[in-house]
Order: sequence, then C-alpha cells, then structure tokens
Amino acid sequence: MKNMFDVELGYIHDKKIREAAAKLVSMLPDYFYSVPASSTGKYHPKCSNVEGGLLNHTKIAIRYAKELFDNAMLFNNFSEHDQDLVIVALMMHDGFKHGLTKEKYVRFDHPLISANFVKEHGEEVGLTKDDCMLLHDIIASHMGVFNTSNYSDVVLPLPKTAMQKFVHMCDDLASKKFLNVEFKDHNIVDS
Ligand SMILES: [Fe+2]
Repeated sequence: MKNMFDVELGYIHDKKIREAAAKLVSMLPDYFYSVPASSTGKYHPKCSNVEGGLLNHTKIAIRYAKELFDNAMLFNNFSEHDQDLVIVALMMHDGFKHGLTKEKYVRFDHPLISANFVKEHGEEVGLTKDDCMLLHDIIASHMGVFNTSNYSDVVLPLPKTAMQKFVHMCDDLASKKFLNVEFKDHNIVDS
C-alpha cells in the first residue's frame, strides 16, 4: 500500500529507522490524514487549512528540514543519524493533534500525546530505546515558546538541544501564514 509519506521516508538514510518510521505513521489515527492543521484557521498558511491540511503542514515542516540539511553550509553538525531522527520527529510531531481518538478541537497537550506514543511504540517497530527517548524529548518540546495556554494547566517543555530547537524552527516556519506552499495530491509542487 502506498504510504502518504513515501517521499519523506526516502529522506531517511538508515533503513531500520526508515522502516520504523513507516510503521509509526501507519499507526497514526485516520483523522490525521484528513483534518486541517488548525481548528480555527487562525494559524498556518492556506494550504494547511484545507482537508488534509495537517498532512500538508507536516510535509512542509519535513521539507524545510531536508532543504536545510542539504545545504552544506548549514546544520552540517547534525550527523546522518541526527537528521534521520529529526525527520521522524517531524513526521510524528502533530500525529495526535486532536487526541488519541478524534476530539473536536486541537489538544494543547498534543506534543506530549505524540511524544508518549513514540516512546511507548518505538521499540516494537525497531527503534532503539535511546532513539525513542530522543524522539520523545524532541516531539514534546516542538511548540517552543508557545508552551503555555490560557485553556490548559499543562506547561510544555521548552526545546533545549540543537535537535529540539531545529524541529521547533521547522514546525514554526511551516505554520507561518505568509509561507504558502502549492500542493498537488498532497505532494509539494516543485516546478
Ligand atoms: Fe506542527
């Protein structure tokens, strides 16, 4: 069966991590593939506020990471292994944005739900315990400074490591309204 992340899985160098990532995204709730990126439309560019917009948003964040990694002047202190984990973290970061089963609104604590899911299921799909912990901490802190809400008592962890900050940066850029991306059938249009 075609995986909606076929292109992005191809960015992962390590076969074992690629296969684990393919299994993890296949475990995401169905709604992930159909909801828009935000419930209000207040955040995110137009391309992410449509049906399937959360998938588009996720793909944009991954593409920013890929472009930045491929520029030899930038972020060349990330090993291939680090880069692979960044891609997996981005794939999963908003995977449970409306909860484990679909709730009406975006859950403020969705980074923790996604982080815990990867920590709980990562080893069974072939990731090492250390990588599961790294992914957990990256995903949990992906909201960056937007770590509190008037509607929740939860205080999300802030990104501290270079990988955590990088993932937050890619997610944040992918959420900017002025950075609209053209899609065709959930593929980024390049030319
Ligand atoms: Fe996101």
